[in-house]
Amino acid sequence: MKLREVGLNWDEFGKQDPLWAILTDPRYRGNRWDPDKFFETGRNQVQALMAEVDRLGVSIPRGRALDFGCGVGRLTQALCEHFDQCCGVDIAPSMLAQAERFNKFGSRCRYVHNEAGNLRLFPDNSFDFVFSLIVLQHVEAENAKEYIREFIRVLAPGGLVVFQTPSHPLSGDAGGRALPESAFRAEISTATHSLTVEVGSVQRLSVRVRNASTECWPGAENPSLFPIHLGNHWLGNDGVTVRVDDGRTQFRNDIHPGDEVELTLTVAAPRTPGAYLLELDMVQEGVAWFKDKGSQSCLVPVTVTAASSGCHHVVPVMEMHGIPKAETLRTIHEAGGKVLQAVEDNAATGWVSYRYFVAKPPTQAQDAAKPQEITLSPDSCAQSDAQSRGAKGSSRVPTAEQVIIEALNLHATAINVALMRIIALEERLKQARG
Ligand SMILES: C[S@@+](CC[C@H](N)C(=O)[O-])C[C@H]1O[C@@H](n2cnc3c(N)ncnc32)[C@H](O)[C@@H]1O
Repeated sequence: MKLREVGLNWDEFGKQDPLWAILTDPRYRGNRWDPDKFFETGRNQVQALMAEVDRLGVSIPRGRALDFGCGVGRLTQALCEHFDQCCGVDIAPSMLAQAERFNKFGSRCRYVHNEAGNLRLFPDNSFDFVFSLIVLQHVEAENAKEYIREFIRVLAPGGLVVFQTPSHPLSGDAGGRALPESAFRAEISTATHSLTVEVGSVQRLSVRVRNASTECWPGAENPSLFPIHLGNHWLGNDGVTVRVDDGRTQFRNDIHPGDEVELTLTVAAPRTPGAYLLELDMVQEGVAWFKDKGSQSCLVPVTVTAASSGCHHVVPVMEMHGIPKAETLRTIHEAGGKVLQAVEDNAATGWVSYRYFVAKPPTQAQDAAKPQEITLSPDSCAQSDAQSRGAKGSSRVPTAEQVIIEALNLHATAINVALMRIIALEERLKQARG
């Protein structure tokens, strides 16, 4: 989903049910979260985080903190208890309006709207602490990686970035709970051959699905498998996916090879007018869409028109995305960050998710002034992390040659900086003499 659509959807969540959209506990759907309890979850999380930072032996200056994807300020407000100035940034104006309403810290807490795919509104090195929880998972990996680079750019040397992002669906670790490859064969059809609908409007489609495989698809009552659903994507007219996740329909009873069922799927049209393809497919959640395993999906051309009146009901959607851990570590390393630890958390249901603690090493000038440390590559961080937690996996340790080259590079940088200082001093002496 493009960032513009992400913003429109979150803005709709902010208008309809903001606290539930942030913490999706089914008990509190329909604006039933008690705000005090909701904000208490933020205070608890930030307190636990600060204890973890102390445990790591990191001392962060308590000046300025940034909360990226702040929503209604659940974590920003809690950060205000630990930092002098806090800034919450969000893509959804409706979320920010709520955040202002809940702000208890006056001008020490500032909320800012940003719909760009970067943080150029902030200069380099402008925060001592950057925090982001349950946000990057809702944007596509390329966008998320750019935000990660930006977190490191806006962080002051000596500060800390802590962010969470999922790595891969749980199924990767689920072994036998995924369907066998031969089960991913479906025949899907609908009597709706084309549609013209208004932006954001909700449509109910009748869809016929036949199990064209040699395996049984377990119904919703079989708890031993990742659930199997009928679902849909939205593609642009050029066939490029513009929204991965939308409607879902489950079936109660097992569907045996050759069986055919009629299911109703509720879909929500994109928020931008244009020509689209509605792609109907089966999915085993957290495992794969059937199309990606070679099955045929069903395409319905859809014309999405501007709203004739503003009063139809819009159903917002929340997409989930991950960045494989190795790729996140590489992104951090290339942006000049140093991973202190990457710990598994349970922040994203159905996904293996990590919380990354990232420091920004001192600048070259600061570096030159103190003895050099050897910075290890992200691969080695992954290795030590996996070893310390007894996890499986096969990350590489850097070779002795790589470590020596890295050390030599650091010393070469230090020598260059020292030489530049000597040249600058000579210039100043020359000017003073004459
Ligand atoms: C699940 S909520 C989390 C809110 C907050 N981090 C918390 O834990 O309470 C996700 C928030 O991220 C915001 N968001 C999504 N994409 C964003 C983006 N590209 N830039 C800024 N905010 C974004 C949404 O508007 C929403 O408020």
